[in-house]
This record gives sequence, C-alpha cells and structure tokens, in this order.
Amino acid sequence: MTHWSDCQRKKGLSLSFVPTMGFLHQGHLSLIKEGLGHADKLVVSIFVNPTQFGPGEDFDTYPRDLERDFNLLRTIGVDAVFTPDQSDFYPQGFDTFINQEKLPQHLCGMSRTGHFKGMMTIVAKLFNVVNPDVAVFGEKDFQQLAIIRRMVKDLNFNIRIIGHPIVREADGLAMSSRNSRLTPDQRKTALCLISALEKAQNSLQNKEYRAAVLIREAEAFICSHPDTGIDYIKICDPDTLNDMTEIDRPALMAMAVNFGAIRLIDNMLLNPNK
Ligand code: PAF
Repeated sequence: MTHWSDCQRKKGLSLSFVPTMGFLHQGHLSLIKEGLGHADKLVVSIFVNPTQFGPGEDFDTYPRDLERDFNLLRTIGVDAVFTPDQSDFYPQGFDTFINQEKLPQHLCGMSRTGHFKGMMTIVAKLFNVVNPDVAVFGEKDFQQLAIIRRMVKDLNFNIRIIGHPIVREADGLAMSSRNSRLTPDQRKTALCLISALEKAQNSLQNKEYRAAVLIREAEAFICSHPDTGIDYIKICDPDTLNDMTEIDRPALMAMAVNFGAIRLIDNMLLNPNK
C-alpha cells in the first residue's frame, strides 16, 4: 500500500482516503464520491478493526462481504482498495495505542470504554500506511469525526479531514452497515431515532430551549416503541461535547439506542435560530 502511495506521489498526484469497515452502503459511496472531488486518486480501506470493539460487542457478527464490496467499488472509480490482514496490523507483541483525554469521555465513550482508543490507533496506523492528503469521515459518527480532527491537529498529521453529512434512507433512517442486521419489525421501529430528533427540533422552534425537557421528550418517545433500550440521549456543545442545559446556540443532539442486540446511533444539529 505504502509503495503504491509513494508511486502516486512521485508522479505528483494527490491522494484521498476513505477508511471503512466494509459491508458498504450508499453512505460509504457518498463519502467516496466526496473524496474523489478532493484529490487525483482515491484509496478505500476495508478492515473490521478488533481493537475498537469491547468484550461482548458485535465484532464477530459485524457484517462482512468483501466480494460484494469489491463489486460495488469497481462501479465508482476507486483507484485502490486496501484490505490489511489482522495479523499484519496487530502482530504478536503489538502494544502501542493512541489515547485522547476529553472528547472520548462523552457520548459513545461512556458505555464503549476503549472504543475510541482502538479507533484512533487504527486510523493513525492507516494514515501512516496510506499517507493521504485528504481523508473523509461521515458525520453520523460525529464524535469519531471530532476525535479524529483533534488527533490530526495534536499529532501533526499533514492530512485535511473532511466531514460528510449523514446519508439517510428515503424514510429517514441513517445508513449504517448494522441496519442489515435489523429484523423487519426492528427496521420500522428504528425510525423512532429520526422522529425523536425531528420532534426535538420542532419543540425548539416552539421556543422550548431547555435541553432536559427535549431529552425527556425524546426518551419517552423512544421508550414507547417495543424492543428499544436507550444507551444515551444527549444535547451537547458540538465542539467540546460537554452537556448543554440551555439551547442558546447550535447544539448537537446525539443518541445511541439498542434495537434488540443492534446498537444504532444518530444525531442532528439543533439550531435555535432556524
Ligand atoms: O467509522 C468506521 O467505519 C471506523 O470506525 C473506521 C474509521 C474505519 C476505523 O476503523
């Protein structure tokens, strides 16, 4: 991978990079299309990274289908697909991880201890091997994007990070590889995520600025659906991810909800001036 990347650089070509865990969907394809517009060549990586899954999480059941992914990628002008082996990336004796102090304490980091440490470590390793000029990440993982921006600044990676808006199914469900594991009933129920976010934006428009009230409304709404388990619903500052009590400026409403064994996340920027 590094050799290929060096060859492109020697030819004076710039590189865009979209890291993924595979089982690609339209959301990934729109990250790739975004990436294609920012550099001469585009690399996609596919690697289900074990170090960002905690014990009891869905590493073993995470959907995988490399053949299907390659076929999709062939149709859209990707220049290279990097699929490292687990043993190449984490050989025996591997013992170095990246940590960040503040942003990972919030949202998904509250229940997924170690997730962001594993995520940052793999992203830094991929950056070192691929050596891109630009990398594209989705805003559905808003916290991941914020953490990567911080890491890139703090560790002097010379890479421009581009955030791409959430891509949704026609009915509003945010696209995710994990959606493929929902039963038809859970798939219908999962629409409560976008509905809860839209309800919050409506309440805000009706001048309800208290975050606690909007969160309580969203909790009650989601709990009124069968087979749902809320991990968190938060309204926070989009830069620091610290909780907000009064929505007097744009705020991030973010949530993680379990539908049976499948955990989905979603978020929306709530704007009091909309
Ligand atoms: O967002 C993802 O799919 C993963 O967290 C990433 C960035 C590919 C790292 O494994």
